[in-house]
Amino acid sequence: MALLVRPETMERITTPELAQRFIDEQIADIKAQVGDKKVLLALSGGVDSSVVAALLIKAVGQQLVCVHVNHGLLRKGEPEQVIEVFRNQMNANLIYVDAVDRFLDKLAGVTDPEQKRKIIGREFIEVFAEEAGKLDGIEFLAQGTIWPDILESEAGIKAHHNAGGLPDDMHFELVEPVRILFKDEVRMVGKELGLPDNMVYRQPFPGPGLGVRCPGAITRDRLEAVRESDAILREEFARNGLEGKVWQYFTVVPDFKSTGIKNGKRTFDWPCIIRAINTTDVMEVTVEHLSAELMDHLVQRIITEVPGINRVLYDFTPKPPATVEYE
Ligand code: XMP
Repeated sequence: MALLVRPETMERITTPELAQRFIDEQIADIKAQVGDKKVLLALSGGVDSSVVAALLIKAVGQQLVCVHVNHGLLRKGEPEQVIEVFRNQMNANLIYVDAVDRFLDKLAGVTDPEQKRKIIGREFIEVFAEEAGKLDGIEFLAQGTIWPDILESEAGIKAHHNAGGLPDDMHFELVEPVRILFKDEVRMVGKELGLPDNMVYRQPFPGPGLGVRCPGAITRDRLEAVRESDAILREEFARNGLEGKVWQYFTVVPDFKSTGIKNGKRTFDWPCIIRAINTTDVMEVTVEHLSAELMDHLVQRIITEVPGINRVLYDFTPKPPATVEYE
């Protein structure tokens, strides 16, 4: 069985050697816990579930069944990367579920942010439970729970962030190999397991994904504008040495239009808001100031490459009073 509580004496995993020692111990523990039975894992492609997948693949190989649910609210290239890394490179047993229409149909016309979150959380569980129901002989469920999740749920801070609780009638024994690790340790272990840097050092991404960056009722065209502008922002941050330095950065495309001109003709399109912030605990947040040169370049790329955008704005508001996300 995996250790449930982080021992007070546990050394912080800060070196490849310590990471390797942890990996060896976990592989032995997982083998002892799981035996020859099957394990199910919801693999989002975020760092925690990716590290859990990589550990389980090393420990029990094809006994692990990964389910990747594409709910249409992921960033550009993410579902493809999950397939490439886990199915093609690591030979994982991966079920890819294209649930894009299902999620977007359920979300159509829903404007209330909490309602949107609930629909996304509920639908995710339903899709996952349906996939689990199609499989025989699964006895274990792996989860990417990490130590701050335990601390924050105990303190009552993080309930809405842990939206992925599974229904009680799924009687699985849990396998939580990174449960006692802090985030920096999970990254260290992921690096040692050979996962790509853009997976290991990925910035935080909310469970409801791009859904909360497309404020109000989500439409496919506006969601695409969020996805494309976000991809441009990430590309430019990487090119300009800001990746891994700025804590979180993304774009938001609000549900209102303003007038503009393109090729001598009037346009009536959305603005794209850029948000780039730094923090240590996400309770208080400061804004990253970009150079005027980079800002100009981002504006040019976004207005020329992203359909439906005719204006780019920068959010200079710290938290408090503004939250990081827009809903
Ligand atoms: P806020 O907007 O509350 O965000 O200042 C603080 C941090 O939490 C992330 N966030 C979420 N993460 N599910 C998540 O998993 C959510 O519903 C959610 N809402 C916000 C946000 O991206 C930021 O890092």
